[in-house]
Amino acid sequence: MNRGKLITFEGVDGCGKTTQLRLLERILTTRNTSFVSTREPGGTELGKLIRAALLNVSRHKVEPLSELLLYAADRAQHVQEFVLPNLAAGKIVLSDRFYDATTAYQGYGRGFDLALIQKLNRLATSDLKPDLTLLFDIDVSTGIERIARRGGETANNSDEDKANRLDLEPHEFHERVRQGYLELAKQEPNRFRIIPASGSIEAVRPLVMEALQGIL
Ligand code: TMP
Repeated sequence: MNRGKLITFEGVDGCGKTTQLRLLERILTTRNTSFVSTREPGGTELGKLIRAALLNVSRHKVEPLSELLLYAADRAQHVQEFVLPNLAAGKIVLSDRFYDATTAYQGYGRGFDLALIQKLNRLATSDLKPDLTLLFDIDVSTGIERIARRGGETANNSDEDKANRLDLEPHEFHERVRQGYLELAKQEPNRFRIIPASGSIEAVRPLVMEALQGIL
């Protein structure tokens, strides 16, 4: 059996990647494509505990180094327990964030050494790379506004998802994350597709399908 394909969804908070992932799931289901979708942090049972520890705002403090290592621990578990077996079974794996998020948030955002992050990412993933990475690029203020609106909603949102720790970082932090993602896309143009994501859900959707041509 052919190995499946790993497609990752990235971008700053509020970029709309999760909404687009859900839309793609529907399309793949109607096409009878064999796929699974997942996320980081939180793609395994252990990962859910790590996600709660990382993102529940109020209960405790998380030092930047602990944060970096917890994301790596979540990823190591996710890759071994979920991603690799599904790829080996020939499935398309859609992941809402993967190691580029650590480079963008902990590297460019928090300022950890990029060479160290690269080593940690390689260790956590056993050198697995996405076949394609969709980068949903959006102006930081627009993303923050979207998050604020989401925070006002009650339906289907856990406390954690309304406003997580990273969402609460200042504008400059998110700007560094955005520029970091764009830099990564520049370094690996074959792997990345940049999707301008400030338009409506309906406007962005065809851009996603276009970016996926040739891989699905
Ligand atoms: P989400 O908004 O995609 O659910 O991601 C949760 C938060 O975790 C988001 O603010 C980005 C952050 N994050 C990192 O800082 N580093 C990482 O490696 C990952 C996977 C996520």
